[in-house]
Amino acid sequence: MLAPPANHDAPLVPVPGAPIHPGWLRIMHWLNALAVVIMVTSGWRIYNASPLFDFVFPREITLGGWLGGALQWHFAGMWLLFFNGVLYLAMNLATGRLWRKFFPLSVRGVAADLGAALRGKLAHADPRRYNQVQRLAYLFVMLDIAVLVLSGLVLWKSVQFSLLRELMGGYETARRVHFTAMALLTAFVAVHLVMVALVPRSLIAMIRGK
Ligand code: HEM
Repeated sequence: MLAPPANHDAPLVPVPGAPIHPGWLRIMHWLNALAVVIMVTSGWRIYNASPLFDFVFPREITLGGWLGGALQWHFAGMWLLFFNGVLYLAMNLATGRLWRKFFPLSVRGVAADLGAALRGKLAHADPRRYNQVQRLAYLFVMLDIAVLVLSGLVLWKSVQFSLLRELMGGYETARRVHFTAMALLTAFVAVHLVMVALVPRSLIAMIRGK
């Protein structure tokens, strides 16, 4: 827990003994990671049944065994992803954590932190504070998952969600939007895992809170 700063640029003032990541956040992060793995790997199996492009995903890295099984995993994972995501956003908004952790954010700040990171000079002294590149990446992945859910709704119930379908440019475009958002999410996870491997103590904090 953190005492709210007077302005967003002010350093965060940790409450003594408070975890770096609150318990609810850690539980939701890991539930989200589980849901994402289920959704992506079962989604690859569903894709293989009717590929959009000139390739299929290797069977060994897909979930569900066959189309029917993969669809069941996808729909089960969907509820976890959706409710966990809504609760995560609600908690972040209600506690003001969203503004404290992810803002301010500026093009100049991202460029400066990215430059420092590429030169190996980005400091990780304060694990409570995300740098601007992390802020951008985490906000991006929240938005990306929202796009995945919305385009998924169109593919699932395209008649019932006809307005959403039309806003997305029709069923076929929604399919491409869904695929692109999946590819971006997969890219995020790959970079995220490399970053965690580079700063292993951040993983301990996401597991134990300290
Ligand atoms: C699979 C999908 C995943 C997604 C979408 C995801 C997303 C996120 C997001 C949005 C945050 C910021 C959370 C917040 O402060 O509100 C975060 C933090 C973090 N995630 Fe993930 N994550 C995923 C998987 C993983 C995995 C598999 C690991 C570890 C093996 C991991 C380790 C971490 C750590 C250590 C942090 C804290 C980073 C820091 O303090 O610098 N994540 N993740």
